[in-house]
Amino acid sequence: MSSSKFTRTLVTSALPYANGHIHLGHIAGAYLPADIYTRYKRQRGEAVLYVGGSDEYGVPITLSALKEGISPQDVIDRYHTANKAAFETLGISYDIYGRTSWDLHADTTQKFFTKLYDDGDIHQEDMELWYSEASDRFLPDRYVTGTCPKCEKEGANADECEKCGAQYSPHDLVSPKAAIPGDDSSPILKKSRHWFLDLPKFQANLKTWLDTHPEWRANVKGIAYSWVDDLRSRCITRDTDWGVPIPLDTPEAAGKKIYVWFDAPIGYVTNTRQWGIDVKGDDTAWESWWKEEDTRLLHFIGKDNVPFHAVIFPAMLQGQGDFIAADTVVGNEYLNVVNRKTGKAEKASKSKGNMITVQWALEHFAPDVLRYYLCANAPESKDADFDWDEFMLRYNGELCDVVGNFAHRSLTMTVKNFDGQVPEPINLDEEDKAMLAAIPAGLDAIAESLEDFRFRQALERFIDLGRKANVYFDSRAPWVTRKTDMERTGTTLYVCCQVVHALCHAMAPFMPDGANKLAGILNVTLAQGGPDGGEDGWNVGKELLPAGATLNKPQVLFPKIDKDELARLAELHKEEEGQ
Ligand code: 2FM
Ligand code: ZN
Repeated sequence: MSSSKFTRTLVTSALPYANGHIHLGHIAGAYLPADIYTRYKRQRGEAVLYVGGSDEYGVPITLSALKEGISPQDVIDRYHTANKAAFETLGISYDIYGRTSWDLHADTTQKFFTKLYDDGDIHQEDMELWYSEASDRFLPDRYVTGTCPKCEKEGANADECEKCGAQYSPHDLVSPKAAIPGDDSSPILKKSRHWFLDLPKFQANLKTWLDTHPEWRANVKGIAYSWVDDLRSRCITRDTDWGVPIPLDTPEAAGKKIYVWFDAPIGYVTNTRQWGIDVKGDDTAWESWWKEEDTRLLHFIGKDNVPFHAVIFPAMLQGQGDFIAADTVVGNEYLNVVNRKTGKAEKASKSKGNMITVQWALEHFAPDVLRYYLCANAPESKDADFDWDEFMLRYNGELCDVVGNFAHRSLTMTVKNFDGQVPEPINLDEEDKAMLAAIPAGLDAIAESLEDFRFRQALERFIDLGRKANVYFDSRAPWVTRKTDMERTGTTLYVCCQVVHALCHAMAPFMPDGANKLAGILNVTLAQGGPDGGEDGWNVGKELLPAGATLNKPQVLFPKIDKDELARLAELHKEEEGQ
């Protein structure tokens, strides 16, 4: 296993922009896999820290503020609070959920910038940019529209045309117009000083580093190599008043800010720093997580974020001189949404009204229900489709019917017929032994998939163990033997209790609520783990519950989704989103 040289794991998942509610596509792409992995590692007793937070600078946020007539601070406060709460309710178990608007983050970002600047890895250039004399401000590309110089489409973007795909320089845009509330004046091109990160300097090392990771997913490697092979300097500053100030005391830098894509990934470092301050009372505690070679750094992201995590941020880290490089960048594809009317999958988008926010979903479904389907149907190697009917069928038919039902009938029969205690096994035969042997084999198979970031496969293997258990249960038919042979029945249910116990441990990373409920019934403790590590609680699932162990009253772990209720909710979502 490649993790052997590591003694701690730092897990990051992309910092979502605090200008909208996170949706199920985000969860399937970055947050749920990172959380499952982190929970699994905690259970194994490995030292693991999971950092996340809001990305709070950038044009989308200032644009939202302008449109609503409120301040950017109001925008980020609203969405940071909502998204943090949504993650918590869904059970995304961050050790810290930070904010890039924190002063500490400005400090971390400025230190990054200064080191690169002092080492000569940043140069300055004057650029010609759109400027509105009416508003007395520079306008980012997204604040300007015009007529496409190629196909003459009106209302085309400032730098590319959505209709014909042409890309052009500001000089070529015809009839430019400011596109901000209250200002549709004709902007002029004006010179402005900016700072560029000299990425080509890092090219050779980046290539060598990528070459050492043939095991990465093909989608991530493909994008990373195509960027590294064609690396150019990138502008890392902007004419805006919303961002981290450029740490240079020159008239040209005054009032300008660092570009959001430079500061955002540094947010992972800031948030680790803040965690160290909060939890360890030590502003150097973060360093071992970012600077020591025995730390395994993992980034979980959607595929649009690959260039930043597999090329640009690694170059920025390299330029610091004493930071480690990521060991794996786990990039997922997209989760599209099936239109119930046409049956066709569409890209999830706010304007189509087909985006299912986590907040909305959690008002109508339990966290485990969402976690199950979003992992079982994760867009790991290709895009996946969120389909309302499949969502219900898979959850009902797999998690409820296979695992939930097996656990329930095993525990109910045991409690009823054996005084609420795990029965004594008497004369285990070949079939019993085969079932018992399937437990460690099943847990090992699930662990192997998780170690390889194959979350869909891991969940399939979990369900497979449940399927085997159902076959065993049906073959031994304890509801029949109960009438004639209590010894046989007891032995069968002893074996079943062992499988339920293993399923409880294996379930914990995927469906933590169900696992906790089940642990309560079985009277067992699930390992919590954390940044300091602990005992291996995963292998506890392979240990046998002793005969005589007391069980509590069984309860349904995973209630089924009703077909009519599902149809009602799908309609309700459509109405509420105005489709
Ligand atoms: O795509 C996004 O939502 C970005 N806000 C992700 C940033 S990831 C990291 F760099 F912070
Ligand atoms: Zn065009």
